[in-house]
Amino acid sequence: MQIQIAIDGPVGAGKSTIAKECAGRLGIVYMDTGALYRAIGVWCKENGTDAYDEDAVAAVLPKIALEIKLISGVQRIIINSGDITDRIRTPDASMLASKVSSYGAVRTFLLDLQRDFAAKNSVIMDGRDIGTVILPNADVKIFLAADPRERAKRRYDELIAKGSDVNFDDVLADLEKRDRDDSSRTHAPLKQADDAILLDTTGYTFDESVERIMEIIKTRF
Ligand code: DC
Repeated sequence: MQIQIAIDGPVGAGKSTIAKECAGRLGIVYMDTGALYRAIGVWCKENGTDAYDEDAVAAVLPKIALEIKLISGVQRIIINSGDITDRIRTPDASMLASKVSSYGAVRTFLLDLQRDFAAKNSVIMDGRDIGTVILPNADVKIFLAADPRERAKRRYDELIAKGSDVNFDDVLADLEKRDRDDSSRTHAPLKQADDAILLDTTGYTFDESVERIMEIIKTRF
């Protein structure tokens, strides 16, 4: 039986780390859909296309052959045969991703890729529109939320651990801007699906969040 689990929510709600852990426990694949938008934003920048120019990005999409590969169970994003995965986690890549993700042409370009992947694998997919647009019939839909300052603190700690030179106020401001932009865009905005379960992880440890989600998933199977 193919399983589809959708986890949506704002920046830094812990979607990816929690979804990865739950996928490991369930023995199914984790797919990070934000990585696709990040890859397109970074590819545009590296190849001389202005990511802030919607028409220019739409025009260049036919030149992009994007593949998702699983290497030892870990997702890699390949564009035109080049692996871009290690270059998509910077603060700049986050803002580029948020920008290109607001373009209808980019969302259409990535729609079938995500649905095909979910049709071939039992998955936990995380993103902004998985429960609303990509997998409207998912078996389980969860919307993860948390207080913005707590989310910013988690993101700040991650960046510092990676050796980035960032300050907390900038991380908080970027996060609030991205949430605003992601929620207010016309195409597939960040929004809780009507049939999604809301889980606010403010004050939860990582383990508590994982346990809560595993409980929700288990009630459905
Ligand atoms: O989850 P993330 O931070 O890697 O996502 C980067 C950006 O991509 C985010 O600001 C919004 C966009 N995104 C989206 O629009 N839809 C998704 N399913 C996933 C991400």
